[in-house]
Amino acid sequence: MAVTQRINDLNELPLISRQRRERVLSGIQPTADSFHLGNYLGAMRHWVNMQATHDCFCFIPDLHAITMAHDPAALARRTRVAVAQLLAVGIDPQRSTLFVQSHVPEHSQLAWVLGCITGFGEASRMTQFKDKSSKGGAERASVGLFTYPVLQAADILLYQADAVPVGEDQRQHLELSRDLAQRFNKTFGNTFTVPEPHIVKDTAKITDLQSPTAKMSKSASSPQGIVNLLDEPKAIIKKFRAAVTDANREVIFDPEHKPGISNLLTIYSSFSGKSVPDIEAGYAGRGYGDFKSELAELVVEALTPIRERTQQYLDDPAQLDAILADGATKARAVAGHTLAAVYERVGFLTA
Ligand code: TRP
Repeated sequence: MAVTQRINDLNELPLISRQRRERVLSGIQPTADSFHLGNYLGAMRHWVNMQATHDCFCFIPDLHAITMAHDPAALARRTRVAVAQLLAVGIDPQRSTLFVQSHVPEHSQLAWVLGCITGFGEASRMTQFKDKSSKGGAERASVGLFTYPVLQAADILLYQADAVPVGEDQRQHLELSRDLAQRFNKTFGNTFTVPEPHIVKDTAKITDLQSPTAKMSKSASSPQGIVNLLDEPKAIIKKFRAAVTDANREVIFDPEHKPGISNLLTIYSSFSGKSVPDIEAGYAGRGYGDFKSELAELVVEALTPIRERTQQYLDDPAQLDAILADGATKARAVAGHTLAAVYERVGFLTA
């Protein structure tokens, strides 16, 4: 649907008064001391590229990060490292709105209202809650973990996002956000943009170097199976050398029969910009050894500047704080506008 059309629909209250560029919102949890290649090639790199064509909002959902038991010092450290890495890979705070969720109180405020139009049964069907709560026993899971998807809906709807780049695992949460937006609009009047999932075409699906049929994942992979953006060159080289490969010696892309080599080819292609067939041709008759060590070199070359820039941001906390304060101000201007309309429409008195 044309953005202008929606602006006209909402013109009694210009919630979407902005330029025509589509607005996208992306978030990544601060649950590790470093992001990894799967995060970077599957998501972050696309967010950086989208800045050229979209109005980008990019945030660290720290409220979501306390839905499971957590260590406060680690959360604070990881939130900083997460922001520093986003800046280091190229999220530009001049072009994008980059912020930390807890700096924008409107997220919690809207989550309450949305929670009141979410069915208990509807929330109970969220598969991520079932997965995460089954690990420690459903009785012990927090109410925060249960309402996690409602908070996520608030994240998205506050900014009137047109699209949300998400992986397959977040599809159901996005569907809930759409349902809640539509339900609110129908009940209280047109207020929210109904967001579309934005499944990035040819997103690189990166798998675990040690068990290449499983996604590279902070929670599931062994440390040797994950290449972190902040790994030192020595560690990167070691991990690629030890990567599980497949029978026979040919560097050929065949995910079904050769998941290990195929994953490495995907990584090679992402960092070199070369097509997979070109890479295959270049290694014809040469075996895995050369391929793995040249791949490691390529990755070291790409990640070294990212690691160094991340460290520069971490070494200057005042600058990082200023960037975040500025991001929070920009985010609150939009979020506050939406929340004010929501409060008015549900019948709250103006304070
Ligand atoms: N649930 C998302 C994840 O684990 C993180 C997230 C929270 C998010 N709020 C969001 C992603 C809003 C996109 C939009 O990946």
